Amino acid sequence: MMKGGKGVPAIAAIVVAVLCVASAVPRLHGAKGEGDLVKQLLNGFTATHAAGATAQFEPVLYATNGVFAFGFLRVGSASLDLAVVHLPSSFPVWRATPARPGDWSRAAKLTFDSSMVLTDPDDGVLWQTLDTIGDAVVLHNSSNLVVRRYDRDDPSWQSFDSPSDTLVLDQNFTVSTPPLISSNRRFALRLGKTYMALQMEFYGGRTTPTYWKHTALEAQPQNASEPPVYGRIDARGFFGLYLEGGGQKVDTLSFDTFVQNLTGVFRRMTLDDDGNLRAYYWTDGAKDWISDYKAIADRCELPTSCGAYGLCVPGEAQCQCLDNSTSTSPPCHAEETTDLCAASGQQLDFDGVRRKRVSVAYKEELPSETNRTAGECEQACAGNCSCWGAVFNGASGYCYLIDFPVETLVYEADDRKMGYFKVRRLASPKRTRMSPGVTAATALLSLVLVGLGAAGAYSGYRLWERRKRKRAGMEQELVPGPYKDLKSMGSSNNSFKT
Ligand SMILES: *[C@@H]1O[C@H](CO)[C@@H](O)[C@H](O)[C@H]1NC(C)=O
Ligand SMILES: *[C@@H]1O[C@H](CO)[C@@H](O)[C@H](O)[C@H]1NC(C)=O
Ligand SMILES: *[C@@H]1O[C@H](CO)[C@@H](O)[C@H](O)[C@H]1NC(C)=O
Ligand SMILES: *[C@@H]1O[C@H](CO)[C@@H](O)[C@H](O)[C@H]1NC(C)=O
Ligand SMILES: *[C@@H]1O[C@H](CO)[C@@H](O)[C@H](O)[C@H]1NC(C)=O
Ligand SMILES: *[C@@H]1O[C@H](CO)[C@@H](O)[C@H](O)[C@H]1NC(C)=O
Ligand SMILES: *[C@@H]1O[C@H](CO)[C@@H](O)[C@H](O)[C@H]1NC(C)=O
Repeated sequence: MMKGGKGVPAIAAIVVAVLCVASAVPRLHGAKGEGDLVKQLLNGFTATHAAGATAQFEPVLYATNGVFAFGFLRVGSASLDLAVVHLPSSFPVWRATPARPGDWSRAAKLTFDSSMVLTDPDDGVLWQTLDTIGDAVVLHNSSNLVVRRYDRDDPSWQSFDSPSDTLVLDQNFTVSTPPLISSNRRFALRLGKTYMALQMEFYGGRTTPTYWKHTALEAQPQNASEPPVYGRIDARGFFGLYLEGGGQKVDTLSFDTFVQNLTGVFRRMTLDDDGNLRAYYWTDGAKDWISDYKAIADRCELPTSCGAYGLCVPGEAQCQCLDNSTSTSPPCHAEETTDLCAASGQQLDFDGVRRKRVSVAYKEELPSETNRTAGECEQACAGNCSCWGAVFNGASGYCYLIDFPVETLVYEADDRKMGYFKVRRLASPKRTRMSPGVTAATALLSLVLVGLGAAGAYSGYRLWERRKRKRAGMEQELVPGPYKDLKSMGSSNNSFKT
């Protein structure tokens, strides 16, 4: 069984931190014990994060069962986020993930006045539950953080409706729920009308190729009047897909423990930073999460297991590079953040690399052409600036086009499996057989193109920001920030992991 999960190695540190902070949490006069922890936040509530606090997590609200707490979470070395943390494992089952993370070294403030607002002393509002009218904030035993009104049963706002990278027991994942995004922001789990899909996020989310797809077995994609599916983890050890409305079950993804009838454990499903979707469970007194489901079984089938232009050799757990001009082991090339299309409609400079015995693990999800020759397959890609590669199967005549930056390919011992890949040529002053005038003109043109590319990347990022804000709807205000912040957030997530 597969062990692991984010934050787990940090258990000891965080538990200690939680204990320290817990003792600082307001208590009833003279009272002691778990029953005295803060169980709801009322209008007028304010909590201030102490700038540069040594604790990893500063809880402000507890669930009645004492298993979950909501508070300020330190992410990486310097970022601040709001999170619901599973205290025994210190794993954040939910995070607010504002577009611009807070800064741990500054005194951020959380207030509740009908809605929750996180503010930074200098930068203003980082995150809020927009348009919510509530009387109290409570944390349910399920880990659902809820803003509620006294006279209403349904919540004004709940964290279950805006997951980060994790779903927990009884949390509905519907077509209107935003996608799960891995904490490094490179992968997403999205729900279609009758399927769920794992996708890579390129160019700031404008290109999202699918690398794993599961269609609900008993759903009927051709029946337009059939309602969409939604998914939910069941305590009995499976992820069920149901039809909205009636709740008829149309598929079951069984976990390994399903046959053991292992109930009474806490379960979660997380889109991990390697792009795999895994289910884990936690038993009382456990030391670590135990994984009992993974969507992708083989390491070589993970889309980026050997990085950009990497080649994964099955069975040997070994990575190579598609071209051996640069490096013999990963990372073979830097990740690409823009395509090869120049504003003029032409293509930026690249080198074509050919390699035999390669295939793509998720080729069924790629656009393909049939009855091709290897040359035709290569040509279909070579002239198209949005294409980064083509993989040809000489036995079947199938040609698969990679219309996103080249990631990890899989080695297959078959000479008829051929690949063609574009590698961006970095601007270099050295040009053969060119007059000085042409060289100068070319250099000038490259400069212009690089400039345009950078501008394109920036506007692409802005576009992504806007899309993301739209997706978040009225629930969260996402304040745009510089690209650097996003990057540092991604990497700080990684360092939280270790
Ligand atoms: C939450 O858990 C506590 C302790 O396990 C229990 O006493 C309480 O009834 C639970 N609350 C709900 C709403 O189930
Ligand atoms: C999940 O969906 C079911 C069926 O529609 C509903 O009964 C339940 O209240 C929902 N749970 C939450 C937490 O919204
Ligand atoms: C289509 O789906 C609706 C709703 O589930 C159902 O009532 C109807 O019988 C289905 N039609 C067919 C042709 O399967
Ligand atoms: C599974 O466990 C539950 C509660 O422990 C029990 O009621 C049920 O009968 C069990 N089912 C099977 C198939 O063993
Ligand atoms: C990599 O190097 C080996 C040996 O030097 C050579 O045979 C092979 O063709 C090279 N592959 C590529 C893609 O350049
Ligand atoms: C592929 O080519 C063969 C022979 O030229 C032809 O019979 C067949 O219909 C073609 N298939 C497709 C899908 O175009
Ligand atoms: C280039 O490739 C993209 C993606 O595969 C495709 O949508 C587009 O039509 C292609 N353009 C041309 C001119 O073939």
